[in-house]
Amino acid sequence: MKITVVGAGAVGASCAEYIAIKNFASEVVLVDIKENFAEGKAMDLMQTSSLNGFDTKIIGSTNDYSQTSGSNIAVITSGIPRKPGMTREELIGINAGIVKSVSEQLIKYSPDVILIIVSNPMDTMTYLTHKVTDLPKNRIIGMGGALDSARFKYRLAEAIECPASDINGMVIGGHSDKGMVPLTRLATRNSIRVSELLSVDRLQTVSEETKVGGATLTGMLGTSAWYAPGAAVSSLVQAIACDQKKMFPCSALLEGEFGLNDLCIGVPVILGKNGIEDIIEINLDDIELNQLRTSAEGVNATNSLLTDLNL
Ligand code: LAC
Repeated sequence: MKITVVGAGAVGASCAEYIAIKNFASEVVLVDIKENFAEGKAMDLMQTSSLNGFDTKIIGSTNDYSQTSGSNIAVITSGIPRKPGMTREELIGINAGIVKSVSEQLIKYSPDVILIIVSNPMDTMTYLTHKVTDLPKNRIIGMGGALDSARFKYRLAEAIECPASDINGMVIGGHSDKGMVPLTRLATRNSIRVSELLSVDRLQTVSEETKVGGATLTGMLGTSAWYAPGAAVSSLVQAIACDQKKMFPCSALLEGEFGLNDLCIGVPVILGKNGIEDIIEINLDDIELNQLRTSAEGVNATNSLLTDLNL
């Protein structure tokens, strides 16, 4: 199993590290435009292999996509990250051109590749990838909901004072501060609904903290976060590589599901060797459905900016 990670910045390198540590891939190729940067990160990571006990071979490449040839899965993290105070949507002008050219290069050398899009604004970058490539819709996956759900579980665990591994829950909707829809009604601690454990106000706070999870860290770190994003991507890669049929909320192209069409937005999907193998239309109540539809309006508004970019 050969996996390419484009962008050897913090998110890309962290993703490569988690993939290696989980030890399910034979090869990871890190690609970056900065001369020798990916090669350096790859060498540094390879020098942890005897310490961390993995056999995955990691190589770096300065923008030479021929080295990515025959990749089964490729992760696109390239582009500029958020600075404090910026929204993910403000990155569209620069990142759209980068995501378009990177996806074209990847497909040229790996026609059967499954793409995972991480670059922001992620739902729009995922939609753009559908528009500029001819890949079937199961082979383009946006990573946002897996990260937002991990942050949701962290906040719920903090409020309940329990380990996050006791928590089950999902965040659907757009990967944006306003667009996320944390499904508090359905979240549980080992089958006990969190609404039985937390007050309405506390749940509301958890929900708000979850939605600004990325912005909070950008404010603290001066750039966007990388450990949880890297770990979330590696979980999606593993689910596909190992044909796990696991469920994650991911940005998927919708064609009528939840009453939505012609956009990519976070919904529960099953990930296996074919990429998105199913979209699960869970039963949402009217409030949740309205929140998802409002979120979709926000994603559509960002998507409409693509037409002015002349890509
Ligand atoms: C975040 C970025 C990766 O949410 O979108 O941290």
